[in-house]
Amino acid sequence: MSDQISSFKNLRIVDNFYQTSAFYPMPTIMVSTLCEDGTTSLGSYSLCFPYYVAGKDYYAMLLCCRNNSNTAEALLRKNKCALNFISDERKYFREAVRLGYPGDKPEEKMKSTIFQLEEGLMARENPDSVFPKIVSQAFQVFECTWMKELDGAENDRVQEFYKPPYHDFNGITSETGAHFILRVDRILMKEEFQNTIINGSKRGNFPSVPVDYGYRDNSSFWYMRHRPPLREPIPETKGVDVSVVMHASERIDPDIRFTEEACAGLVKVPRVFLNRVLTGCVGWAKENGISLITAEHMTIINDKRSKERRGG
Ligand SMILES: Cc1cc2nc3c(=O)[nH]c(=O)nc-3n(C[C@H](O)[C@H](O)[C@H](O)COP(=O)(O)O)c2cc1C
Repeated sequence: MSDQISSFKNLRIVDNFYQTSAFYPMPTIMVSTLCEDGTTSLGSYSLCFPYYVAGKDYYAMLLCCRNNSNTAEALLRKNKCALNFISDERKYFREAVRLGYPGDKPEEKMKSTIFQLEEGLMARENPDSVFPKIVSQAFQVFECTWMKELDGAENDRVQEFYKPPYHDFNGITSETGAHFILRVDRILMKEEFQNTIINGSKRGNFPSVPVDYGYRDNSSFWYMRHRPPLREPIPETKGVDVSVVMHASERIDPDIRFTEEACAGLVKVPRVFLNRVLTGCVGWAKENGISLITAEHMTIINDKRSKERRGG
């Protein structure tokens, strides 16, 4: 096939294509896991993304890693980790590259690390169990549990060489690879950024998140320092008037009705989410023995939803 298509070149897709054939923006995460002696080790990871974001019994992340890394072995043994998101200081990224050098044992890596470790919330809430410590300098931390039963991976054990058969998406997935679906147990956030999430964002109060460019060559990783993010307002919902919401609300549940004022509060909800939002309101009404949802009820429901979003 020709490598010239209009203004684009057709690149060969090879192993680690996201680094070797692409520029791929990613986070920089120090994954803390438990060593066999109960101490905490850190490994550097970027291939780590939200996996279950809604509609499941839990929320989950997906981590892709080398199956003979310290991190993979620790997850196979102890099932716990914390995803520590670091900010963009050069010294932190330099340390991530040092801790990202394959083959170093945890005790070698950890004796001179600049990252400080402290107990996370899981350790405080479950004093009888042991959890990996979290990185004090991180701006946010997800404390996670590997869901080993998914894809039948619960019997995967640490081995020197991994032979087939391999799992499709969880546990040991190839001769060299592993994937871990990680339930998000707690999200911990530094107070100043918790304020951003709760009170609304201004340009200046985002964490300084580095962007790992994916692309790397033989001698270097490449990353971008933070720049204040730009605001792009979501377009106003076009033309959904209250009669559309009224019509939809009449078809959700025969026993629950909405007043026109209640429906008026929902005209800005995008059409694709309207039924889901109405269903949520109906669920609340049934729990509370209400058959006609009014604007006042909508205020209560909205307050409850925003409290839940804040983890309250
Ligand atoms: C910024 C950065 C991002 C990395 N991302 C990944 C990744 O997503 N997956 C992976 O397998 N290795 C990744 N590596 C390489 C690992 O850090 C390396 O395999 C290291 O040995 C892992 O440490 P561990 O053995 O203590 O787990 C990355 C390295 C750096 C510096």
